[in-house]
Amino acid sequence: MSTENEYITLIYNDQSFKLPLLTGSEGEKSIDISNLRSETGLITLDKGYANTGSCTSSITFMDGEKGILRYRGIPVEQLAEQATFKETAYLLINGRLPNKEELSDFSVLLNDHSLVHEDMQLFYQNFPRTSHPMGILSSMVNALKSFYPVLQTVEEEINITVTRLLAKIRTMAAMSYKISRGHKVVYPRPDLSYCANFLNMMFENPVKPYQMRTEVVNALRVFWILHADHEQNCSTTTVRVVGSGRVNLYAAISAGISALWGPLHGGANQAVIKMLTDIMQDNGDIHKSIKRAKDKNDSFRLMGFGHRVYKTYDPRAIIMKKMCDNLLDKLHITDPLLDLAKKLEEVALKDDYFVEHNLYPNVDFYSGIVLRAIGIPTNMFTVMFAISRLPGWIAQWKESIDDPNWKICRPRQLFIGHKKRDFIPIDKR
Ligand code: ACO
Repeated sequence: MSTENEYITLIYNDQSFKLPLLTGSEGEKSIDISNLRSETGLITLDKGYANTGSCTSSITFMDGEKGILRYRGIPVEQLAEQATFKETAYLLINGRLPNKEELSDFSVLLNDHSLVHEDMQLFYQNFPRTSHPMGILSSMVNALKSFYPVLQTVEEEINITVTRLLAKIRTMAAMSYKISRGHKVVYPRPDLSYCANFLNMMFENPVKPYQMRTEVVNALRVFWILHADHEQNCSTTTVRVVGSGRVNLYAAISAGISALWGPLHGGANQAVIKMLTDIMQDNGDIHKSIKRAKDKNDSFRLMGFGHRVYKTYDPRAIIMKKMCDNLLDKLHITDPLLDLAKKLEEVALKDDYFVEHNLYPNVDFYSGIVLRAIGIPTNMFTVMFAISRLPGWIAQWKESIDDPNWKICRPRQLFIGHKKRDFIPIDKR
């Protein structure tokens, strides 16, 4: 970050104030308002933090106008093409790609920590059968703190907690699926890759052994890499905000999982499938949905469309769409929802409203169809997203606690309520 002694001059009450202008490594400019209130008495107001930089970060770069996404400088397209999910996680958390020895040590550690305390199964078994897997995952991740005691040194505590989370989240997610179906839990296998291991724990069955297909393992790898980080989105900011109070990592990640659950964020992949199914049941009437999405008096939105940052095609959606086509082709699956999604996209992209509002498909528009093809039940879609976002959350949390200028997150507000008034006793109201 460079300051180059550039300033913005703010004139307020006939006085001028100099606010430093900061430049990021990709040339992005930002006004440093840290001292605005102490110098001028003013605060800024920015609902939904649409125009607020809450931190400096060297993890993920995205340019919403150009459709660019890079993890630690490496384009997501290259990672989706060539990297493993484990390498991507290592890259995000440690800031560089691992060499062979480091990757092998990382794999050993992940395998060593992949088992989940047997007593945790009791908790899983006692959730009502109708519980949403995201609620279960968030609770169980928080509960990990009770099962795994504090370690000797801060560094060891951080490293082992990070490894435990990365290793166990797959096991916990698959375990909740198996238990919800009344099936026996399948244990992790050290001979399988990160992605294959998860698929095996989800779908292996003594009566009908799971046929592991490379196309499916590859699809999961790409899905997880594409979702691994996305700078200061709702759930990542949640992890940073909660972490800023110096809670343990499990609690911060559990909060991130809860934030991700919402249909406007990670829950969109599940919401897209519901929307497409509803359209299908309504005789595939795409135009009716487009009309509803444009109607300001109707809360309906085209799920999987639009993004706070991307004002062009989400680069992840391009990869996801291509991968979706390939996967269904290789597996000889015909999914009517894919045809409907493509038609909907085509119509929306030509519609004036969507063009004027810069609304393009986001990563979740096609991701649900990929997950369906892999065999993931719809209510587990957002859990799949949570597993993939974990390395990003950890990297962002680590970066925030390592920041020498760290501050607890505590925004201001513009109060618009009553001025001082007196309490009225109940019999006089
Ligand atoms: N369908 C119809 N109109 C939309 C949509 C949509 N999907 N998205 C945005 N708009 C319209 C809004 O009505 C608004 O119109 P107006 O300015 O005429 O009032 C304008 O576009 C801007 O919308 P905002 O809600 O202000 O944009 P914001 O940046 O706050 O929201 C969001 C971004 C939440 C992603 C939004 O586009 C949306 O709700 N999309 C559908 C849900 C979705 O797919 N979420 C996944 C995002 S990706 C992810 O989290 C992994």
